[in-house]
This record gives sequence, C-alpha cells and structure tokens, in this order.
Amino acid sequence: MFVKELPEEVRFKISAGEVIESPADCVKELIENSLDAKAKRIEIEVIKGGKHYISVKDDGVGIHPEDLPKVILPFHTSKIERFEDLLSLNTYGFRGEALHAIAQVSRMVISSRFYQEDRGYEMRLEEGKVVHIREKGMAVGTRVEVFDLFYNLPVRRNLLKKEDTERAKILRLVRDYAMARPEVSFKLIAEGRELLNLPSTQSARDRLEEIYKTKFEEREIERDGLHLRVFVSLSQKKGEVKLFVNSRPVQNKSLTEYIKRTVGRRIAVCLLEVPPFVVDANIHPKKLEVKLQKEGNIKELFRELFKGHKTHIPSLNQEGHPYKAEPELVGILEDTILIVNWMESLYFIDQHLLAERINYEKGQTSDKACRGAIKAGDKLSPAQVRAMLKEWVELQNPHTCPHGRPIYYRLPLKEIYQQIGRVR
Ligand SMILES: Nc1ncnc2c1ncn2[C@@H]1O[C@H](COP(=O)(O)OP(=O)(O)OP(=O)(O)O)[C@@H](O)[C@H]1O
Ligand SMILES: [Mg+2]
Repeated sequence: MFVKELPEEVRFKISAGEVIESPADCVKELIENSLDAKAKRIEIEVIKGGKHYISVKDDGVGIHPEDLPKVILPFHTSKIERFEDLLSLNTYGFRGEALHAIAQVSRMVISSRFYQEDRGYEMRLEEGKVVHIREKGMAVGTRVEVFDLFYNLPVRRNLLKKEDTERAKILRLVRDYAMARPEVSFKLIAEGRELLNLPSTQSARDRLEEIYKTKFEEREIERDGLHLRVFVSLSQKKGEVKLFVNSRPVQNKSLTEYIKRTVGRRIAVCLLEVPPFVVDANIHPKKLEVKLQKEGNIKELFRELFKGHKTHIPSLNQEGHPYKAEPELVGILEDTILIVNWMESLYFIDQHLLAERINYEKGQTSDKACRGAIKAGDKLSPAQVRAMLKEWVELQNPHTCPHGRPIYYRLPLKEIYQQIGRVR
C-alpha cells in the first residue's frame, strides 16, 4: 500500500547509526510517527522511566492493514521513495528504521485502525518477529506499546540510567515536542501519575507559558523565505535556549551560543521555519543535529531581532559580556503609571504595586511591603525609576503584587502599529 522498501542507493545515503539507546529515544521516535500521522492528540505512558513499559497512543490516520507487517521491516517507510524527496521533506521520519530498531530490542505491540477501515488490528512482536496479528475493536489511530526494552540485550539494559533520570529525559523530550507543536494536545503519564496535560492551542506563546509557568515576550522576523520567531522569558531564569527548525527540536552549538550571549539569563525559545531544502536532517542518525545552509543569514536575522528597533536600547558591554535588553522609561503618567518600552511591548506599570512587589521579594511581609512602599502620586526621580525597573525584570514574579493584583498593563508595539495601519 503506502509503506515501501527504500531502494538500495537511498539506504546507502541515509545517515547510519544507533537509533535506539534509551527509553527516551523510543518515545521520541513514536511521537514523531504520531505527528507524521497527523495526530491531534498524543498520549504517552511510561512505567519505570520507560524501561519496563512505554505506550504512545495517537488519533492519527492509522496504518493500513496491509502495511502493518511491513512497518517493522528495515528501511520500510511511507514517507520518501527517492533520495530527492529529502529536499522537500515535511515529515519527521524518512529512514524507515525506527520501528524496526525498537522491535529488535523489545517486545512490542502495535495496534492500529486505518481511517478508512471499520476495525483495527493488533500485531504482537518478539525480537522483531511477528507473533500474531488479530482484529481489534478500537478508535481510528495507532498505539505502540514497548515492553522490557533491551530484555534480550542485558549489557545494554544495564547501561540504562536510573529510572528517575530516564523519566526526566522523557519529560524534557515531550515538552520539546509540545513546544514545537502547540496545536497538538499532549499528555504524559509516568508511573500512573500525570506529569503533563497540555490541551491544544493555536498560540505558541500560550503553550510556552503553560509549560514554563512564566510569561514570554515574542519577536518575529521574516525574510528571504526564512521565518524566525523568538520567545524570551520576562523573568530571569536559568539561561536556557531551545531551538526548533521546521518544528524539529535540534541542537546547533553555534546558534545556541549566539542566542545565549544575546538573551543572558533568560529562557529563549526559537522557532525557525525554513524551506525544506535549506535544512539537512540526514547528518545525524538520531536527527539530533541538522545542517543549515544560510546559517549566516539566520544569525543575521537574530542579530536584527535583538538589535531592536529605534525604540529599544540594548546595552553593549565592551568586554564581550551579554547584550542585555533593558527596559526604557518613556514617561510617567500622573506620577502613578510608569510607561516603559521593553521587549517589543509598551508596559503601563503601577509604581506603587511594583514597589510593593520589590519590597515583598526582599523578604518583607505583604502588609509591611505595602505600607513601606512608594505610593501612587509620589514624585520619583529618573534614577529611582531606573533602579526599580532594573529590579522589576529580575523579580521572581514581575506580574502581580503580593495581593495578586496585576502590576502592569501591556500593549504589544505590533498591535499599536497595526491599529494605525503602519507596517514596520
Ligand atoms: N503512529 C503511526 N501512525 C500511522 N502510521 C505509522 C505510525 N507509526 C509508524 N507508521 C508507519 O510505519 C512506517 C515506519 O515507521 P518508522 O518510524 O519505522 O519509519 P519512518 O517514520 O518512515 O522513518 P524514521 O525511521 O526516520 O522514523 C512509517 O513510514 C509509517 O508509514
Ligand atoms: Mg518514524
């Protein structure tokens, strides 16, 4: 049907290497397959950090019954037929290798109902061999279950990390894909406990805020077919940079270092969309790294995003320390509201609530923090305001006062420009 064996000359060119070395590697491959099958909902379950049991269930298009026995054969795939197809690749998979690799080192059950069929089928495998295929009543979609990873390779099994470490790896991984694909809902259950439950959303920013439990600013730039969106956390955190190229979480040392220098101790999530021929996912057997043509152009886009527009002043430290975007005071309204331009938004900050929050985070109780704080109507010197703004961006919680009132009202510059019909 759809799944075919790749011709010899294509196999020869596909980056070879160990695909499955840990439970997280299995989870990664299975999630990618579910996404390739256009799933809108993916549920992952693991026991003992995935060493004992992994299940990934989706509501995608399913596997055609005729294809079911083929999906675990080496180099069998429905995603490419010729090497040139890699130039227009829009799926995560292309090697036809993942299910084969997992089947070799586990006991596996694949249950699937193709969307045009009125029933599903369950295929049970041991060491890569089919034990049985039987009919099964189920909803459209696919579930892959992996039992006792490396049970037949005790040395490999012993090399696996502790359960907690494997579980943490899986959690990070599921979060990565959830960031890359906010329109898909993800659930992760480990040892019977729900670790993640992310409903689908159209907004990448909402998804990030849900995952990191902190607010993000968004910047966007598009040029020469490259589209870059960067989300930077408002509050200071342990610096963390995430890079996604065409929704694939990837590592790219030089870009990551560059971004880290730019944003300092913040979380930066970069979503880069490029035409498929610009990115080569076939340089690493696990596709963890990609080769980007035009890497220079991409850095240029970053530089431009962070150099900012005229309204936004990054401070450049001569000793090669990080550039850091600093909030810029635009004005003070009625000795009460600080108007601040920061990270592509205009913030209207209540000076009393901000002062209260700062006192509170310095260890004062909420009533004392409030009584001791600057009031609405107090005249503040520019130096005083500058000091407060500096503290604002370092706050654990820069969003609400100790009583829970919002400290500021935010208006994205983009909206202002849109409202007056000016394109920047
Ligand atoms: N969840 C799924 N839903 C529908 N079809 C699936 C699913 N998982 C696998 N398949 C089918 O099985 C085939 C083999 O999957 P496998 O992951 O082994 O290879 P691949 O995704 O084609 O390439 P790669 O090895 O790069 O992941 C896929 O090409 C696809 O046709
Ligand atoms: Mg795959």
